[in-house]
Amino acid sequence: MGTSTNIVWHDSNVTKEERQKLNHHKSAVLWFTGLSGSGKSTLSVALEKELHHRGIHTYRLDGDNVRHGLNKNLGFSPEDRAENIRRIGEVSKLMTDAGLLTLTAFISPYREDRDKVRELLDEGEFVEIYAKCSVEECESRDPKGLYKKARAGEIKQFTGIDAPYEEPAAPELTIDTENQSLGESVETIISYLKENDYI
Ligand code: PPS
Repeated sequence: MGTSTNIVWHDSNVTKEERQKLNHHKSAVLWFTGLSGSGKSTLSVALEKELHHRGIHTYRLDGDNVRHGLNKNLGFSPEDRAENIRRIGEVSKLMTDAGLLTLTAFISPYREDRDKVRELLDEGEFVEIYAKCSVEECESRDPKGLYKKARAGEIKQFTGIDAPYEEPAAPELTIDTENQSLGESVETIISYLKENDYI
């Protein structure tokens, strides 16, 4: 991949802080991570609805959707997953500059890739939310039939089966999606956002 040269950063006249003031809330990235079927998408959809209802400016980025467009040239090797997360990180940073509360739902199985996104953003702008659910439970849910295919060898490098998932070391929030209801989980996140002055 080539590296751009002769390019100069051009600052905007409207700052991130001014956009946040206009919106009456902070901008940040709510980064959901967890196994396929752990509930990342379900949680982020329900949370976004609730935030929108409360007048918060949001946008949601989701693995399956982004891989249809921006990242359609990427597969599931460790290198491609790293590039997937790097691009999402950059897009999330732009959205944070735009004053939005961005919700991302990607497996993002490697700690190093997630930590790089954290470093890309300013202090407090990366809220890592671990959708915690055992492989056994995800496999029994198997909403898209992918675990079945992975067990049959029809999908290679499937997270939790023959590709790793590295649990977050110190996430801002852990949501036990195996034992907690969707409503309770959304409430937990809303409370965190209020207590920490995001909204
Ligand atoms: S990653 O690891 O963060 O780059 O993955 P992500 O962009 O979130 O994409 C995950 C969705 O892709 C489907 N899928 C796979 N997941 C894991 N491993 C393999 N090999 C694979 N192949 C396809 C799957 O539908 C994932 O969606 P979710 O919503 O997580 O179930």
